[in-house]
Amino acid sequence: MPGKSMQSTPIPYQNLLDTSKSSSERIYLSPPDIGLEEKELVMEAMESNWIAPEGPTIKTFEHELSQYLGTEHVIALNSGTSAIHLGLKLLGVGQDDLVIVPTFSFCAAVNPVLYLNAIPVFVDCENSNWGLDPEILEEAIKNCINTGSKPKAIVIVHSYGMPAKMDELRIISEKYQVPILEDAAESLGSMYKGQQTGTFGALSVLSFNGNKVLTTGGGGALILPDRHSYEKVLKWSTQSKEALPYYHHIELGFNYRISNIAAAIGLGQFKNLQNRIINKRLIHDQYVNNLSEIQGLSFFEDDSDCTSNKWLTILNINSSVAGKNNLEICEELEELGIESRPVWQPLHKQPLYRKYKSFIKGKAEQLFSVGLCLPSGSALSDNQVEYVSTAIKSILHK
Ligand SMILES: Cc1ncc(COP(=O)(O)O)c(C=O)c1O
Repeated sequence: MPGKSMQSTPIPYQNLLDTSKSSSERIYLSPPDIGLEEKELVMEAMESNWIAPEGPTIKTFEHELSQYLGTEHVIALNSGTSAIHLGLKLLGVGQDDLVIVPTFSFCAAVNPVLYLNAIPVFVDCENSNWGLDPEILEEAIKNCINTGSKPKAIVIVHSYGMPAKMDELRIISEKYQVPILEDAAESLGSMYKGQQTGTFGALSVLSFNGNKVLTTGGGGALILPDRHSYEKVLKWSTQSKEALPYYHHIELGFNYRISNIAAAIGLGQFKNLQNRIINKRLIHDQYVNNLSEIQGLSFFEDDSDCTSNKWLTILNINSSVAGKNNLEICEELEELGIESRPVWQPLHKQPLYRKYKSFIKGKAEQLFSVGLCLPSGSALSDNQVEYVSTAIKSILHK
Protein backbone atom coordinates (compact mmCIF):
# COMPACT_ATOMS: atom_id res chain seq x y z
CA MET A 1 0.00 0.00 0.00
CA PRO A 2 1.54 3.33 -0.96
CA GLY A 3 1.36 6.27 1.45
CA LYS A 4 -1.87 8.25 1.82
CA SER A 5 -2.56 10.69 -0.96
CA MET A 6 -2.60 14.45 -0.55
CA GLN A 7 -6.11 15.75 -0.87
CA SER A 8 -7.46 19.26 -1.19
CA THR A 9 -10.25 20.18 1.21
CA PRO A 10 -13.16 17.88 0.30
CA ILE A 11 -15.70 19.25 2.81
CA PRO A 12 -16.39 22.91 3.63
CA TYR A 13 -14.80 24.01 6.90
CA GLN A 14 -18.07 24.75 8.63
CA ASN A 15 -19.42 21.28 7.84
CA LEU A 16 -16.29 19.75 9.22
CA LEU A 17 -16.68 21.55 12.52
CA ASP A 18 -20.43 20.87 12.67
CA THR A 19 -19.65 17.17 12.79
CA SER A 20 -19.44 17.30 16.58
CA LYS A 21 -17.25 14.47 17.67
CA SER A 22 -18.20 11.89 20.27
CA SER A 23 -15.46 10.82 22.70
CA SER A 24 -14.91 7.59 20.72
CA GLU A 25 -13.93 9.75 17.74
CA ARG A 26 -11.36 11.73 19.69
CA ILE A 27 -8.32 12.53 17.60
CA TYR A 28 -5.14 11.52 19.43
CA LEU A 29 -1.65 12.97 19.13
CA SER A 30 0.15 9.89 17.82
CA PRO A 31 -1.70 6.63 18.45
CA PRO A 32 -0.41 3.20 17.39
CA ASP A 33 -1.01 2.21 13.76
CA ILE A 34 -1.30 -1.57 13.79
CA GLY A 35 -1.94 -3.88 10.83
CA LEU A 36 -2.78 -7.52 10.17
CA GLU A 37 0.84 -8.61 10.08
CA GLU A 38 1.34 -7.61 13.73
CA LYS A 39 -1.75 -9.56 14.79
CA GLU A 40 -0.63 -12.68 12.93
CA LEU A 41 2.87 -12.52 14.40
CA VAL A 42 1.52 -12.04 17.93
CA MET A 43 -0.76 -15.07 17.43
CA GLU A 44 2.22 -17.11 16.21
CA ALA A 45 4.25 -16.08 19.25
CA MET A 46 1.33 -17.00 21.53
CA GLU A 47 0.91 -20.38 19.87
CA SER A 48 4.62 -21.08 20.28
CA ASN A 49 4.14 -20.34 24.01
CA TRP A 50 7.15 -17.98 24.05
CA ILE A 51 5.41 -15.52 26.34
CA ALA A 52 8.45 -14.32 28.24
CA PRO A 53 11.32 -11.85 28.03
CA GLU A 54 13.05 -14.40 25.83
CA GLY A 55 12.15 -16.28 22.68
CA PRO A 56 13.02 -16.57 18.99
CA THR A 57 11.08 -13.51 17.83
CA ILE A 58 13.32 -11.21 19.88
CA LYS A 59 16.34 -12.34 17.86
CA THR A 60 14.46 -11.90 14.56
CA PHE A 61 13.31 -8.43 15.62
CA GLU A 62 16.88 -7.46 16.56
CA HIS A 63 18.11 -8.76 13.23
CA GLU A 64 15.47 -6.71 11.39
CA LEU A 65 16.46 -3.59 13.34
CA SER A 66 20.13 -4.03 12.57
CA GLN A 67 19.36 -4.59 8.87
CA TYR A 68 17.25 -1.43 8.78
CA LEU A 69 19.92 0.68 10.47
CA GLY A 70 22.84 -0.99 8.73
CA THR A 71 24.54 -1.77 12.05
CA GLU A 72 25.47 -5.10 13.52
CA HIS A 73 24.77 -5.03 17.25
CA VAL A 74 21.29 -4.07 18.44
CA ILE A 75 19.73 -5.22 21.69
CA ALA A 76 15.96 -4.93 22.18
CA LEU A 77 14.86 -3.80 25.65
CA ASN A 78 11.57 -3.02 27.40
CA SER A 79 11.79 0.76 26.91
CA GLY A 80 13.87 3.58 25.50
CA THR A 81 14.41 4.76 29.06
CA SER A 82 15.99 1.41 30.02
CA ALA A 83 18.17 1.67 26.92
CA ILE A 84 19.42 5.12 28.00
CA HIS A 85 20.04 3.80 31.52
CA LEU A 86 22.11 0.82 30.35
CA GLY A 87 23.80 2.93 27.67
CA LEU A 88 25.03 5.47 30.23
CA LYS A 89 26.13 2.63 32.50
CA LEU A 90 28.08 1.13 29.61
CA LEU A 91 29.80 4.48 29.09
CA GLY A 92 30.95 4.22 32.70
CA VAL A 93 28.64 6.89 34.14
CA GLY A 94 28.41 6.57 37.92
CA GLN A 95 28.24 8.44 41.21
CA ASP A 96 28.80 12.22 40.83
CA ASP A 97 29.84 12.05 37.16
CA LEU A 98 28.66 14.96 35.01
CA VAL A 99 26.49 14.21 31.97
CA ILE A 100 25.47 16.83 29.41
CA VAL A 101 21.74 16.68 28.63
CA PRO A 102 19.67 18.94 26.34
CA THR A 103 17.28 21.04 28.37
CA PHE A 104 14.82 20.89 25.48
CA SER A 105 13.88 17.24 25.89
CA PHE A 106 11.67 14.65 27.48
CA CYS A 107 12.43 13.61 31.08
CA ALA A 108 13.62 10.17 29.89
CA ALA A 109 16.79 11.81 28.54
CA VAL A 110 17.79 12.92 32.05
CA ASN A 111 16.19 10.54 34.56
CA PRO A 112 18.63 7.68 33.87
CA VAL A 113 21.46 10.12 34.77
CA LEU A 114 19.82 10.42 38.18
CA TYR A 115 19.24 6.62 38.46
CA LEU A 116 23.04 6.33 38.26
CA ASN A 117 23.55 9.03 40.95
CA ALA A 118 25.30 11.16 38.34
CA ILE A 119 24.73 14.90 37.80
CA PRO A 120 23.06 16.40 34.71
CA VAL A 121 24.35 19.61 33.15
CA PHE A 122 21.70 21.17 30.94
CA VAL A 123 22.53 22.77 27.59
CA ASP A 124 20.21 24.85 25.42
CA CYS A 125 19.10 23.96 21.92
CA GLU A 126 19.78 25.88 18.71
CA ASN A 127 17.50 27.68 16.31
CA SER A 128 17.40 25.62 13.18
CA ASN A 129 16.42 22.13 14.30
CA TRP A 130 16.11 22.33 18.07
CA GLY A 131 18.98 19.95 18.79
CA LEU A 132 21.81 20.61 21.24
CA ASP A 133 23.52 23.91 20.37
CA PRO A 134 27.17 23.09 19.45
CA GLU A 135 28.53 26.45 20.67
CA ILE A 136 26.80 26.26 24.02
CA LEU A 137 27.83 22.61 24.32
CA GLU A 138 31.49 23.58 23.96
CA GLU A 139 31.10 26.38 26.49
CA ALA A 140 29.53 23.92 28.95
CA ILE A 141 32.25 21.29 28.49
CA LYS A 142 35.00 23.90 28.96
CA ASN A 143 33.29 25.18 32.08
CA CYS A 144 33.02 21.66 33.53
CA ILE A 145 36.69 20.98 32.78
CA ASN A 146 37.74 24.31 34.35
CA THR A 147 35.80 23.46 37.48
CA GLY A 148 37.59 20.15 37.80
CA SER A 149 35.29 17.56 36.24
CA LYS A 150 35.13 16.60 32.57
CA PRO A 151 31.67 15.32 31.59
CA LYS A 152 31.44 11.55 31.18
CA ALA A 153 28.91 11.64 28.32
CA ILE A 154 26.84 13.90 26.07
CA VAL A 155 23.19 12.96 25.50
CA ILE A 156 21.96 14.20 22.13
CA VAL A 157 18.24 14.13 21.24
CA HIS A 158 16.74 14.40 17.76
CA SER A 159 13.82 16.56 18.87
CA TYR A 160 10.45 15.44 17.49
CA GLY A 161 12.26 13.47 14.78
CA MET A 162 14.42 16.36 13.51
CA PRO A 163 18.08 15.34 13.24
CA ALA A 164 20.43 17.37 15.45
CA LYS A 165 23.56 18.95 13.91
CA MET A 166 25.61 15.78 14.17
CA ASP A 167 28.74 16.95 12.30
CA GLU A 168 29.31 19.93 14.58
CA LEU A 169 28.39 17.95 17.69
CA ARG A 170 30.71 15.07 16.80
CA ILE A 171 33.63 17.45 16.30
CA ILE A 172 33.18 18.70 19.87
CA SER A 173 32.73 15.17 21.22
CA GLU A 174 36.02 14.15 19.56
CA LYS A 175 37.88 17.33 20.51
CA TYR A 176 37.15 16.83 24.23
CA GLN A 177 36.95 13.02 24.10
CA VAL A 178 33.47 12.88 25.58
CA PRO A 179 31.31 10.13 24.02
CA ILE A 180 27.84 10.75 22.60
CA LEU A 181 24.79 8.80 23.66
CA GLU A 182 22.42 9.46 20.77
CA ASP A 183 18.77 9.49 21.82
CA ALA A 184 16.99 8.63 18.57
CA ALA A 185 13.83 7.61 20.47
CA GLU A 186 11.64 9.70 18.20
CA SER A 187 13.59 9.71 14.97
CA LEU A 188 13.60 6.19 13.52
CA GLY A 189 13.73 6.72 9.74
CA SER A 190 15.06 10.30 9.93
CA MET A 191 18.24 10.93 7.98
CA TYR A 192 21.14 13.32 8.52
CA LYS A 193 23.27 13.83 5.39
CA GLY A 194 21.91 10.57 4.02
CA GLN A 195 22.66 8.52 7.15
CA GLN A 196 20.03 7.02 9.48
CA THR A 197 19.73 8.63 12.89
CA GLY A 198 20.42 5.98 15.52
CA THR A 199 23.84 5.29 13.96
CA PHE A 200 25.76 8.42 15.03
CA GLY A 201 26.45 7.93 18.73
CA ALA A 202 29.10 5.90 20.50
CA LEU A 203 25.81 4.29 21.56
CA SER A 204 22.33 5.05 20.25
CA VAL A 205 18.84 4.55 21.60
CA LEU A 206 15.43 3.91 20.04
CA SER A 207 11.99 3.87 21.64
CA PHE A 208 9.05 1.70 20.60
CA ASN A 209 6.55 3.36 22.92
CA GLY A 210 2.93 3.33 21.71
CA ASN A 211 3.27 6.83 20.25
CA LYS A 212 6.40 6.13 18.15
CA VAL A 213 6.67 5.48 14.43
CA LEU A 214 7.42 1.83 15.19
CA THR A 215 5.75 0.54 18.32
CA THR A 216 5.92 -2.66 20.33
CA GLY A 217 3.41 -1.33 22.87
CA GLY A 218 6.38 -0.51 25.08
CA GLY A 219 9.97 -1.16 24.17
CA GLY A 220 13.28 0.24 23.10
CA ALA A 221 16.68 -0.68 21.75
CA LEU A 222 20.31 0.10 22.35
CA ILE A 223 22.63 0.17 19.32
CA LEU A 224 26.07 -1.00 20.35
CA PRO A 225 29.56 -0.92 18.83
CA ASP A 226 30.53 -4.58 19.26
CA ARG A 227 29.59 -8.09 20.36
CA HIS A 228 31.30 -7.67 23.71
CA SER A 229 29.08 -4.75 24.72
CA TYR A 230 26.02 -6.64 23.41
CA GLU A 231 26.82 -9.54 25.77
CA LYS A 232 27.38 -7.16 28.68
CA VAL A 233 24.07 -5.32 28.18
CA LEU A 234 22.24 -8.62 27.62
CA LYS A 235 23.47 -9.82 31.01
CA TRP A 236 22.60 -6.57 32.82
CA SER A 237 19.13 -6.50 31.21
CA THR A 238 18.33 -10.02 32.41
CA GLN A 239 19.14 -9.53 36.11
CA SER A 240 22.90 -10.13 35.68
CA LYS A 241 22.49 -13.87 36.23
CA GLU A 242 25.81 -15.69 36.17
CA ALA A 243 26.09 -18.68 33.84
CA LEU A 244 25.48 -21.28 36.52
CA PRO A 245 22.63 -23.76 37.07
CA TYR A 246 21.59 -21.89 40.24
CA TYR A 247 21.08 -18.15 40.86
CA HIS A 248 24.34 -16.41 41.59
CA HIS A 249 24.91 -12.66 41.35
CA ILE A 250 28.10 -10.66 41.26
CA GLU A 251 26.86 -7.50 39.49
CA LEU A 252 23.67 -5.47 39.92
CA GLY A 253 21.15 -6.43 37.25
CA PHE A 254 17.89 -5.11 35.79
CA ASN A 255 14.71 -6.64 34.39
CA TYR A 256 14.90 -4.69 31.13
CA ARG A 257 14.67 -7.24 28.31
CA ILE A 258 11.83 -6.89 25.78
CA SER A 259 9.16 -9.62 25.78
CA ASN A 260 8.80 -12.05 22.89
CA ILE A 261 5.20 -10.86 22.35
CA ALA A 262 6.27 -7.20 22.15
CA ALA A 263 9.03 -8.20 19.70
CA ALA A 264 6.36 -9.88 17.54
CA ILE A 265 4.43 -6.58 17.33
CA GLY A 266 7.67 -4.79 16.43
CA LEU A 267 8.51 -7.28 13.72
CA GLY A 268 5.07 -6.80 12.17
CA GLN A 269 5.51 -3.02 12.36
CA PHE A 270 8.48 -3.20 9.98
CA LYS A 271 6.29 -4.19 7.06
CA ASN A 272 4.68 -0.77 6.80
CA LEU A 273 7.33 1.39 8.45
CA GLN A 274 8.18 3.35 5.31
CA ASN A 275 4.50 4.01 4.56
CA ARG A 276 3.89 5.24 8.08
CA ILE A 277 6.82 7.66 7.70
CA ILE A 278 5.53 8.81 4.29
CA ASN A 279 2.10 9.37 5.85
CA LYS A 280 3.55 11.44 8.67
CA ARG A 281 5.37 13.60 6.16
CA LEU A 282 2.19 14.04 4.10
CA ILE A 283 0.24 14.98 7.22
CA HIS A 284 2.88 17.63 7.95
CA ASP A 285 2.59 18.95 4.38
CA GLN A 286 -1.21 19.08 4.65
CA TYR A 287 -1.02 21.14 7.85
CA VAL A 288 1.52 23.45 6.21
CA ASN A 289 -0.77 23.90 3.18
CA ASN A 290 -3.75 24.60 5.39
CA LEU A 291 -2.24 26.85 8.04
CA SER A 292 1.04 28.46 7.05
CA GLU A 293 -0.66 31.37 5.26
CA ILE A 294 -2.23 32.46 8.53
CA GLN A 295 -0.30 35.32 10.08
CA GLY A 296 1.51 34.33 13.26
CA LEU A 297 1.62 30.59 12.42
CA SER A 298 4.71 28.78 11.12
CA PHE A 299 6.23 25.30 10.87
CA PHE A 300 9.66 23.79 11.02
CA GLU A 301 10.95 22.72 7.60
CA ASP A 302 13.84 20.33 6.95
CA ASP A 303 17.08 22.00 5.86
CA SER A 304 19.17 20.46 3.09
CA ASP A 305 21.13 18.27 5.56
CA CYS A 306 18.12 16.53 7.09
CA THR A 307 15.08 14.49 6.27
CA SER A 308 12.91 14.28 9.36
CA ASN A 309 10.40 11.46 9.85
CA LYS A 310 8.01 14.23 11.01
CA TRP A 311 7.16 12.12 14.03
CA LEU A 312 5.07 15.02 15.29
CA THR A 313 4.14 18.15 13.37
CA ILE A 314 4.87 21.22 15.48
CA LEU A 315 2.93 24.43 14.94
CA ASN A 316 4.68 27.59 16.12
CA ILE A 317 2.31 30.31 17.24
CA ASN A 318 3.28 33.94 17.57
CA SER A 319 0.44 34.87 19.92
CA SER A 320 0.81 38.62 19.53
CA VAL A 321 0.02 38.20 15.82
CA ALA A 322 -2.27 35.12 15.92
CA GLY A 323 -4.28 36.38 18.90
CA LYS A 324 -3.99 33.25 21.08
CA ASN A 325 -1.09 31.30 22.50
CA ASN A 326 -0.25 27.59 22.33
CA LEU A 327 -1.84 26.76 25.71
CA GLU A 328 -5.10 28.50 24.84
CA ILE A 329 -5.29 26.73 21.48
CA CYS A 330 -4.48 23.39 23.15
CA GLU A 331 -7.36 23.83 25.63
CA GLU A 332 -9.83 24.80 22.92
CA LEU A 333 -8.81 21.88 20.71
CA GLU A 334 -9.40 19.57 23.67
CA GLU A 335 -13.01 20.79 23.85
CA LEU A 336 -13.39 19.71 20.22
CA GLY A 337 -12.06 16.23 20.96
CA ILE A 338 -8.59 16.91 19.60
CA GLU A 339 -5.48 16.03 21.56
CA SER A 340 -2.54 18.41 21.14
CA ARG A 341 0.33 19.25 23.50
CA PRO A 342 2.70 22.16 24.04
CA VAL A 343 6.30 21.24 23.22
CA TRP A 344 8.60 20.27 26.09
CA GLN A 345 8.94 22.56 29.03
CA PRO A 346 12.73 23.05 29.33
CA LEU A 347 14.05 20.60 31.91
CA HIS A 348 16.10 23.25 33.75
CA LYS A 349 12.85 25.11 34.57
CA GLN A 350 11.15 22.11 36.20
CA PRO A 351 11.17 21.62 39.99
CA LEU A 352 12.89 18.22 39.89
CA TYR A 353 15.84 19.47 37.83
CA ARG A 354 16.10 23.17 38.70
CA LYS A 355 19.03 22.75 41.06
CA TYR A 356 21.43 21.47 38.37
CA LYS A 357 23.82 23.66 36.40
CA SER A 358 22.52 24.87 33.05
CA PHE A 359 23.91 26.74 30.05
CA ILE A 360 21.00 28.61 28.58
CA LYS A 361 20.49 31.28 25.91
CA GLY A 362 16.71 31.32 26.01
CA LYS A 363 15.91 29.22 22.91
CA ALA A 364 14.20 26.28 24.68
CA GLU A 365 12.16 28.72 26.77
CA GLN A 366 11.11 30.58 23.66
CA LEU A 367 10.09 27.31 21.95
CA PHE A 368 8.04 26.28 24.97
CA SER A 369 6.10 29.53 24.72
CA VAL A 370 5.20 29.06 21.04
CA GLY A 371 5.27 25.35 20.06
CA LEU A 372 2.23 23.09 19.88
CA CYS A 373 2.37 19.42 18.81
CA LEU A 374 -0.51 18.62 16.47
CA PRO A 375 -2.16 15.22 15.93
CA SER A 376 0.26 13.36 13.67
CA GLY A 377 -0.69 9.67 13.86
CA SER A 378 0.23 7.88 10.66
CA ALA A 379 -3.34 6.54 10.30
CA LEU A 380 -4.88 10.03 10.45
CA SER A 381 -7.19 10.53 7.46
CA ASP A 382 -7.10 13.58 5.20
CA ASN A 383 -10.47 14.58 6.62
CA GLN A 384 -9.17 14.40 10.18
CA VAL A 385 -6.24 16.67 9.29
CA GLU A 386 -8.77 19.03 7.66
CA TYR A 387 -10.87 18.87 10.82
CA VAL A 388 -7.92 19.78 13.05
CA SER A 389 -6.82 22.58 10.67
CA THR A 390 -10.36 23.93 10.51
CA ALA A 391 -10.64 23.80 14.28
CA ILE A 392 -7.43 25.88 14.62
CA LYS A 393 -8.68 28.39 12.07
CA SER A 394 -11.99 28.75 13.86
CA ILE A 395 -10.26 29.12 17.26
CA LEU A 396 -8.23 31.97 15.74
CA HIS A 397 -11.32 33.36 13.94
CA LYS A 398 -9.62 32.95 10.54
C1 LIG B 1 13.33 11.96 23.38
C2 LIG B 1 12.90 10.72 24.11
N1 LIG B 1 13.82 10.04 24.80
C3 LIG B 1 13.52 8.91 25.45
C4 LIG B 1 12.24 8.42 25.47
C5 LIG B 1 11.96 7.22 26.28
O1 LIG B 1 11.41 6.17 25.61
P1 LIG B 1 10.42 5.16 26.33
O2 LIG B 1 9.09 5.84 26.47
O3 LIG B 1 10.38 4.00 25.40
O4 LIG B 1 11.00 4.81 27.65
C6 LIG B 1 11.25 9.11 24.75
C7 LIG B 1 9.88 8.67 24.66
O5 LIG B 1 9.02 8.27 25.08
C8 LIG B 1 11.58 10.29 24.08
O6 LIG B 1 10.65 10.98 23.42
